[in-house]
Amino acid sequence: MKIVVVGGTGLIGSKVVALLKEFGNQAVPASPRTGVNALTGEGVKEVLQGANVVVDVSNSPSFADDDVMSFFRTSTTNLLEAATQAGIGHYVALSVVGCDRMPESGYMRAKAAQEELIKGSNLTYSLVHATQFFEFAGGIADSATTDGKVRLSDAGVQPIAADDVSAVVATIAADAPLNGTVETAGPEVLGMDQWIGTVLTARSDPREIVTDPQAPYFGAVLERDSLLPGSGAQLAQTRLSDWLARQ
Ligand SMILES: NC(=O)c1ccc[n+]([C@@H]2O[C@H](COP(=O)([O-])OP(=O)(O)OC[C@H]3O[C@@H](n4cnc5c(N)ncnc54)[C@H](OP(=O)(O)O)[C@@H]3O)[C@@H](O)[C@H]2O)c1
Repeated sequence: MKIVVVGGTGLIGSKVVALLKEFGNQAVPASPRTGVNALTGEGVKEVLQGANVVVDVSNSPSFADDDVMSFFRTSTTNLLEAATQAGIGHYVALSVVGCDRMPESGYMRAKAAQEELIKGSNLTYSLVHATQFFEFAGGIADSATTDGKVRLSDAGVQPIAADDVSAVVATIAADAPLNGTVETAGPEVLGMDQWIGTVLTARSDPREIVTDPQAPYFGAVLERDSLLPGSGAQLAQTRLSDWLARQ
């Protein structure tokens, strides 16, 4: 099958492209770096010619509320329109566990809007909801840092390795559309403060973690289980300690 991976040069996308090729598909990375821009539409129609499946694992370069909403609304609208014209049989997108229950977060609102556009299209689709990637720990720490202190909630997280997320996305892309959502998560529930603290310590990062249940996570104050998957989630094997040992 020809499978176009939008965002195929990114963290998840490059792994998905490699896996889909291993499975015997023609996997084509599509992103501004390869001449395909889902925001402007440049190169989209051309890259979708003869394709069977579209996988969207792109991300907004800016996480500011308006930017991220504009990114996912515009890019998804363009991709869905082009995919419909190209007769794509399976549209796969990667989203975030719990994005539909955190409307205070601009990022989560944008991901929920992306999902609504996909569900409202006439395309057959699969949505993959992943928890936070281990690789994203540094970004979370930076976004929560003021005056050298990292203020974080102790709400539960079940972080996952990017390798494991990519395997789920690639497997689903190579299979029949679900017309529904699957959740995937790591094997352990940790406190957000505990997870990020462990990563910073492993990296000899001197920043102090301050536990504050009211500290917002990308704009949303977290409930204990806001970021946790439901009971039917596919649980990955890689533990935080395994991942840290490999860094
Ligand atoms: N981080 C987390 O913990 C987490 C958890 C669950 C779900 N997710 C979701 O996972 C997805 C992938 O995240 P990631 O960390 O792999 O992203 P990433 O490494 O930041 O990669 C972003 C990709 O998007 C591409 N892109 C940017 N602007 C584009 C445009 N206008 N048109 C087409 N492609 C464009 C980039 O292309 P260039 O290389 O050409 O710039 C790059 O390939 C996101 O949708 C995110 O919401 C993330």
